[in-house]
Amino acid sequence: MTTIDPGPPGALRIAPSILAADFGELAARVHEVDAETDWLHVDVMDGHFVPNVSIGPPVVHSLRAYSTRFFDCHLMMTEPGRYLQAFKNAGANGCTVHVEVGGTKTLIDDARALGLRVGLAANPDTPFERVAPFLGDIDLLLLMTVFPGFGGQSFMADVMPKVVSARHEVDQQELALDIEVDGGIDLRTAPIAVEAGANVLVAGSAIFAAREPLVAARALREAARS
Ligand code: DX5
Ligand code: ZN
Repeated sequence: MTTIDPGPPGALRIAPSILAADFGELAARVHEVDAETDWLHVDVMDGHFVPNVSIGPPVVHSLRAYSTRFFDCHLMMTEPGRYLQAFKNAGANGCTVHVEVGGTKTLIDDARALGLRVGLAANPDTPFERVAPFLGDIDLLLLMTVFPGFGGQSFMADVMPKVVSARHEVDQQELALDIEVDGGIDLRTAPIAVEAGANVLVAGSAIFAAREPLVAARALREAARS
């Protein structure tokens, strides 16, 4: 299997979240935005860590045939360790686990051992100090800009000081680390997140609920660059 290049750490990336796409036409919707997609963000919800249930490895496996992009799997799960192997086998390139579920060091090591790119996520009310000790061991820090569980929520600007702190640490320690934001990212909020130091922008509604998703993704990239 050929390795999919995640791109250079710190580079601007647009990651459409398939959660906002019509699941009945998922392959077509994913294909439609391919030209403006750097990573494909796959939101996995287990009904425990978050009150919602979404998709799992079989869907990742099916979509793999329709995309050449890096699959950025966001595991909103209480026990992500039980499923890392399955996601890897299905074609995930990166898996992000939440710091709130604990066992973080083991989860990072297990994901790494499987050859996955490793992400660590923090909810809006989880302080930077919880993730700071792991920055040297991960490839991606996901700072949630909504409480996870649902698409279409409003961007929480009060998370931006945490993004600023993370970017400061990453630069200070010269870490090869991406900082991703997820939730409520649109034309207005993307520049705010980038200004604070984020470089991977997850966007569900702003892309897939738009009349022309490809045009919307392109506009988001332009807005983030401005
Ligand atoms: C929230 C998910 C997000 C969500 C983003 O639990 O992790 O990825 O789909 O959706 P929007 O962009 O609509 O806020
Ligand atoms: Zn997500």
